[in-house]
Amino acid sequence: MDIASRPAEPEQNLQTADAAPAPQAPPVIRREDYLPPAWLVPEIALDFALGLDATTVVSKLSVRRNPDGNGTPTLRLNGDQLAPVAVHVDGEAVNDWRMDGPDLLIELAGEAHEVSVETALVPSGNSQLMGLYASNGMLCTQCEAEGFRRITFFPDRPDVLSTYSVRMAGDRAVFPILLANGNCTAQGESEDGTHWAEWHDPWPKPSYLFALVAGELIANHATFTTMSGRKVDLNVWVRPGDEGRTQHAVDSLIASMKWDEETFGREYDLDLFNIVAVSDFNMGAMENKGLNVFNTRYVLADPDTATDADYDAVEGVIGHEYFHNWSGNRITCRDWFQLSLKEGFTVLRDQLFSADMGSEPVKRIEDVRILRIAQFPEDSGPLAHPIRPDSYQEISNFYTATVYNKGAEVIRMMRTMAGEERFRKGTDLYFERHDGTAATCEDFVTAIEDGAGLDLSQFRLWYSQAGTPQVSVALQQEGARLVLTLRQAVPTTPGQPEKQPMPIPLRVALFDRATGTHGGETLIVLTKAEDRFVFENAPADPVLSINRGFSAPVAIEMLRPDADLVFLAAHDDDPFARYEAMQSLVVQHLVAAVGGGLDEGARAQGREAIGAAFGAIVTDPALDDLMRGELMLLPAESYLAEQLLVSDPGAIHAEREGLKAWLGKALAADLEALHDRVSAVPYGREAAARGARKVKTQALVYIAAGNPAEGARRGLAQYQGAQSMTDRQGALMVLASLDCPEREEALADFLARYEGNALVIDKWFSLQAGSLHPRVLAHIKTLSAHPEFRMSNPNRVRALYMAAAMNPVAFHDPGGEGYRMIGDLIRRLDPINPQTAARFVPSLGRWRRVEPQRAALMRAELERIAAEANLSRDVREQVTKSLG
Ligand code: BES
Ligand code: ZN
Repeated sequence: MDIASRPAEPEQNLQTADAAPAPQAPPVIRREDYLPPAWLVPEIALDFALGLDATTVVSKLSVRRNPDGNGTPTLRLNGDQLAPVAVHVDGEAVNDWRMDGPDLLIELAGEAHEVSVETALVPSGNSQLMGLYASNGMLCTQCEAEGFRRITFFPDRPDVLSTYSVRMAGDRAVFPILLANGNCTAQGESEDGTHWAEWHDPWPKPSYLFALVAGELIANHATFTTMSGRKVDLNVWVRPGDEGRTQHAVDSLIASMKWDEETFGREYDLDLFNIVAVSDFNMGAMENKGLNVFNTRYVLADPDTATDADYDAVEGVIGHEYFHNWSGNRITCRDWFQLSLKEGFTVLRDQLFSADMGSEPVKRIEDVRILRIAQFPEDSGPLAHPIRPDSYQEISNFYTATVYNKGAEVIRMMRTMAGEERFRKGTDLYFERHDGTAATCEDFVTAIEDGAGLDLSQFRLWYSQAGTPQVSVALQQEGARLVLTLRQAVPTTPGQPEKQPMPIPLRVALFDRATGTHGGETLIVLTKAEDRFVFENAPADPVLSINRGFSAPVAIEMLRPDADLVFLAAHDDDPFARYEAMQSLVVQHLVAAVGGGLDEGARAQGREAIGAAFGAIVTDPALDDLMRGELMLLPAESYLAEQLLVSDPGAIHAEREGLKAWLGKALAADLEALHDRVSAVPYGREAAARGARKVKTQALVYIAAGNPAEGARRGLAQYQGAQSMTDRQGALMVLASLDCPEREEALADFLARYEGNALVIDKWFSLQAGSLHPRVLAHIKTLSAHPEFRMSNPNRVRALYMAAAMNPVAFHDPGGEGYRMIGDLIRRLDPINPQTAARFVPSLGRWRRVEPQRAALMRAELERIAAEANLSRDVREQVTKSLG
């Protein structure tokens, strides 16, 4: 690898002249303290002299006193590790500015002024990847949430909207392409080998949506004609050599633009839409106005290097960032407590989009699985917070599964209660009422209420109360009537000891055991702590199907006879409910087994019931393979742990693996026949071929669990015959967990075959770190010293260590080695990239829910981190709350 393409070295950040030492207890920012800005900035002009090692920025702000502000003459411009090189007010150099910590304060006498500040940046020394930084030889920016203040001094808050004009100049050889938000208004050459470009964005926007990119890039260009007939130029920009892997991104963008017109009536509002892929990026992607910046991971895809899941992720993230153009950019957030206003709503929009592009039930099942794996543990742990938090220390820590995924579920409930058409009236009213402004979650709910004609007064509790409601269910025959009794309890969470009942919309159906049908689904809304729902014409002794489609993000508590679950898994006409019945059947069994509540007879009986249902799924000719693939998944270990107050991760793992192996043995013939059938399907992007690939690896997983030698044989054959990354990665995943020569052969081949392709090398790291191999911890240690491992690249760090932290065998090693490994990582990564480091803390933060010996080791690791002197605000907040 050449030196120029190496990302910034981590050691130090050279941006600052006078960085203040990080305080031990960062201040708490509270939602109730919101005040409108004292000064507005209707216009800003930025002038960049670009260089990888040195960039200067001159910003000119037209500032105006806010009539709704507090009238202070002090203009506070936020900074972060910046020192002003020069300050001018109304064209005159001034010296009477002062610093307040990182912020620049200037006293202004009049109502309106022009303030100009010059700053000097070192992009190649910016390892945090916030603000302006160098990645792979190019320059790019990331400003959300508070990165703009690392570029220039500015009131860096989302309720200050400005019109941006940007000029940039730089070496033409290093930066042939110069991009910013909006439209390019002028460009030219200078004699000294530099060139320049001017960009103007007509739409006022908050600073977090500013973006600039400069470097050697190639575009896949396309056009889109909007519903009112305007032509829009589209570009997906990548590094030379990657252009052959951009077509799916372009297609996804076009599909998103069309879908938002048809589904939400939203039309694009500029003549140009640029997407740039960068290889060093903290998050997935960013919705900067007219210039989205993406992690390469969510842009590049071709059959040889991207799995079907990667294709879906590209489509979903492109949709998500595009949809922000209305839900986020045209209407932005008043303050960061309102984050779910844009993120929750936009996640719902991307979920609906992906459902429309593919299989709706499969998408729903996937989204619920993510919620249960990522959000339920958050809601029941020390970092629990409402979808609209009340306070934070570091806002980066609040881009959570709660704000995003539960936020989407809360809006989805409104849609379920209103129905699609009335919900659309609500969103239309929201876009009309608040276009061009910085709004609140309250504004959103009121618009849906007014537009859809719902009373959401009690429903607002979903925005303020944390915790996953537990709903217990009882069904009783009372003469001719059937009575459904529901009770809800919202668990206590940090800072919220008392909870009120919330409206919980539940789609229910009562099945007739004899016919396998029901007389129609009803939507009931549980609003009280306890309520009874009477059904007059129910079949005798019916089977209840409840929370169909996962109509509410709650935990249903109901111990059910295996026979009822087997019945629903076979007969329910709601595909989600079928999946759910299968999951419950396995959850009930494994939870009982882990708790020691099953003797050998009961364990055998439980396995037989599961085996019968599972066998029907494996062989049912009426099931499509995409759905079969979902139904064959066992509940995740983290979701099983959620069912228990305190759990032993070793016992959960052993029981779950035991069941997997038992199923593999008991159904060996059916699984091998399935693996043979789908292995004969040729590669294609259509649903049937994708389904075939999905069950191919699923079947292989069970075959290998039941018979490792057969698994190794079939695994190597699948690897060697693979026509796609889906098959190749699936085979390698299975082989990586086996202790066999085929494992080493395939791993070595994979590394050699994909040398130089960073995203695929990420997979190579991640598959090994996620493996169930008995020596996985030693493998991870070796990988951390591999020449291809780099602490400065978030994708690589996540590939190795997030896979390790999610791997129960590695992370929950009884000796505590896994906890130590993640603790060490956090302490080493924090000075380089605090945002990414902080994302690893929650895994250790679950200690209260783990058996005492491991809990003590996890806690000790958190304490070791807490003892560090110069922790970032990001890690400090997460560690302090986790120790709580
Ligand atoms: N606005 C976010 C990106 C972001 C997140 C910026 C956190 C700063 C801090 C973007 O719209 C987003 O949500 N991206 C997601 C992917 C999305 C499909 C959920 C991400 O980056 O993970
Ligand atoms: Zn988003």
